Amino acid sequence: MRILSGIQPSGRLHLGNYFGMMEPAIRLQDEGEAYYFIADYHSLTSIHDPSQLRDNVRDVAIDFLACGLDPEKAVFFRQSDVPEVTELTWILSTLTPMGLLERCHSYKDKIAQGVSPSHGLFAYPVLMASDILIYNSDLVPVGKDQKQHIEVTRDIAQKFNDRYGEGEPLLKIPEPRIRKDLAAVPGLDGRKMSKSYDNTIALFEDEKALKKKIMRITTDSIPVEDPKDPDDSYIVMLYKLIASADEVQEMEDAFRRGGEGYGHFKKQLLEKLLEHFAPLRVKRAKLEQDPDFVEDVLQNGAKQARLIAQETLHRVRKAVGL
Ligand code: TYM
Repeated sequence: MRILSGIQPSGRLHLGNYFGMMEPAIRLQDEGEAYYFIADYHSLTSIHDPSQLRDNVRDVAIDFLACGLDPEKAVFFRQSDVPEVTELTWILSTLTPMGLLERCHSYKDKIAQGVSPSHGLFAYPVLMASDILIYNSDLVPVGKDQKQHIEVTRDIAQKFNDRYGEGEPLLKIPEPRIRKDLAAVPGLDGRKMSKSYDNTIALFEDEKALKKKIMRITTDSIPVEDPKDPDDSYIVMLYKLIASADEVQEMEDAFRRGGEGYGHFKKQLLEKLLEHFAPLRVKRAKLEQDPDFVEDVLQNGAKQARLIAQETLHRVRKAVGL
C-alpha cells in the first residue's frame, strides 16, 4: 500500500497540521510505503518572498522530522525536486472541467479572505491531483478541509482512465484517510485552526507565547462557581487530542461540578501541551544544528520519488500521444 501526503510551507506548522495530518501520517509510516512531501510549488500561490519560502521549507522539514517522520521508513522530499509533477499537471488540466474547480470551497474561501485570485490558486487542485496520481497513491491522510480536493483527484483520474485507458486503469484512484473523531482542530476562536484566521498555536511555540495564546482561547462568561458545559469548550476539544481518557474524564467532571474558572483548565491544557511536545522540542533543537542531514534526507527522498514519477509520466505521455 502506498501512502502519500503533502504539507504547504506557508508558515509555521500548527496544532491543526499536527493532529489533522502529521501525527496520523507518522503512524501510517509503519503500515505501508509512505511518501510525504513539502508542497513548495503550492506555496508560491501565497508566499512571494524567496528567502521566506526557503526558510519555511527548512522549518517544515525540521518540524516534521522532529515530530517522528522517520526517513528510514518514509520517503520525505520537496515537491519541486520532482518537476515531472508539473508536466503531469498540465496534461491533467486539459481534461479537468472548469466547473469542477469552480466548485472548490478552498478557492472560494481564499478569495473571500482577500487573496488575489491568480490562475495558480484556481488550478491548485489539479497540481494536488498530480501529486497524488504521479506516485500511484492508494491512501492520502489529510484533514477534512482537503476532502474535496481528493474527490477532485478521483474525478480527474477517472476521466483520464475513461479517455485514454482502453479498459486499463492507467491512473490509480486514491482513497482519503480522515480522522473520524476530528472534523477540524479548533483554533483560539473556535473556528478551524488556520493561518488565514490568525488563530493558530504553532507546534513549537516558545513557552511564554504558548501560555499567552492558551489564555486567549475564547470562553463564555459563566462565573467560576457555576457548572460549565465541557461539550461546548475549545479547551476540552484541544485537551482531548493529547490527554488520556481518564484525564479527559476528570476535566469534564470538573467542568460540570463548577467551582473552577476557565483559567484553571487552560493551565491544565498548557501543562499537557508542554509535556507532550517536550521530547519533540529536544529533537528539533538537535536537527536545527544539523542542516546538512536535513538537506540529505530531502535530496535522497527526491531521488526515490522521482523514479516513480518518471515512470508514471512516461506511461501517461505515451497514452496521450506525446
Ligand atoms: P495544508 O498545508 O493547508 O495542511 C496540511 C495538512 O494539515 C491539515 N490541517 C488540519 N487538519 C485538521 N484541523 C485543522 N485545523 C487543520 N489545518 C490543516 C490539512 O487538512 C492537511 O492535510 N493542499 C494541501 C497540501 C497538498 C497535499 C497534496 C495534500 C498538496 N498536495 C497531495 C495531500 C496530497 C494543503 O494545502 O494542506
